[in-house]
Amino acid sequence: MSTTGAAPAPILTDAELRLLQALVYQECGMHFDERRTHFLQDRLLRRLKECRADSFYAYYRLLISHEGKAELAKLVENLTVNETSFFRHKAQLDLYQKYVLEELLKRKQAHREYSVRVWSAGCSTGQEAYTLAMMAADTLAYYYLRNPLPPWRVEILASDISYSVLRIGQEGFYNEHQMATVDYTFRLRYFDKVGDRYAVKKALKEMIHFDFHNLKTEYLPQRNDVIFCRNVMMYFDEAEQKRLVEKFYRCLNPGGYLFVGHAESLLGLTEKFHMVHRDSGTAYQRIEVRE
Ligand SMILES: C[S@@+](CC[C@H](N)C(=O)[O-])C[C@H]1O[C@@H](n2cnc3c(N)ncnc32)[C@H](O)[C@@H]1O
Repeated sequence: MSTTGAAPAPILTDAELRLLQALVYQECGMHFDERRTHFLQDRLLRRLKECRADSFYAYYRLLISHEGKAELAKLVENLTVNETSFFRHKAQLDLYQKYVLEELLKRKQAHREYSVRVWSAGCSTGQEAYTLAMMAADTLAYYYLRNPLPPWRVEILASDISYSVLRIGQEGFYNEHQMATVDYTFRLRYFDKVGDRYAVKKALKEMIHFDFHNLKTEYLPQRNDVIFCRNVMMYFDEAEQKRLVEKFYRCLNPGGYLFVGHAESLLGLTEKFHMVHRDSGTAYQRIEVRE
């Protein structure tokens, strides 16, 4: 009888798992507790096979080597969860549009400063950034009616650790399923129908700049008025969340706002923000400390 067949998958020992967990954490801040170990193991095994490594230790050695840098980026990309949608968590977005943007425009206008910077940190395939851009464009149009002013400049930075999602965001094409939460009037004003997909119109696209940023690093984009970092911190442990919130504090202009996911909170992580709550939407505003 022939015994040919695929070689058995290598066994992942506890020691190897700990090494790989620590490496991933050090690289991108993602923490895999017991509930998510299975997912981690599955992705590690896929990448190990792809690289034809014969053990998890050999794969680990590859990842920490100079030649393994691209593979490490690929592994991290495979570990990210990219679920997102347009107009995700409406109550928060209402707070952004009706309170935060209005307050920022008034405050800036008083200083004759006509620009607003918004950062979607962990933007995935771009729906969050485009939502923020559509809402800002609408708010501005309404604001101009009441305040004839020089043109404002709204810049939206959309960043992620995964190049593949950034590429999708940059292309700005979405299918019917992805457009389910975009209502008719937004579709008309901000999208063109191209075949069976929707393409983001040029004017909206020009408000957004997609770029790679790893939130684990110290050098992050500065001088933001608003940061949206939703459904990202939930994959980090508490120590990493604290470090990130501290960095966001420094990345915001005085009085700037931070939005985190519906299931996330700054409670117990910092005392440098105060909570703003309106109609079940929550944001955090930077507290200014007098020197
Ligand atoms: C679940 S999606 C959230 C997308 C969007 N913010 C939303 O709430 O709909 C999480 C995103 O965070 C990104 N991410 C995870 N770790 C990151 C890191 N260290 N730096 C930057 N982005 C990261 C992932 O690649 C993924 O696209």
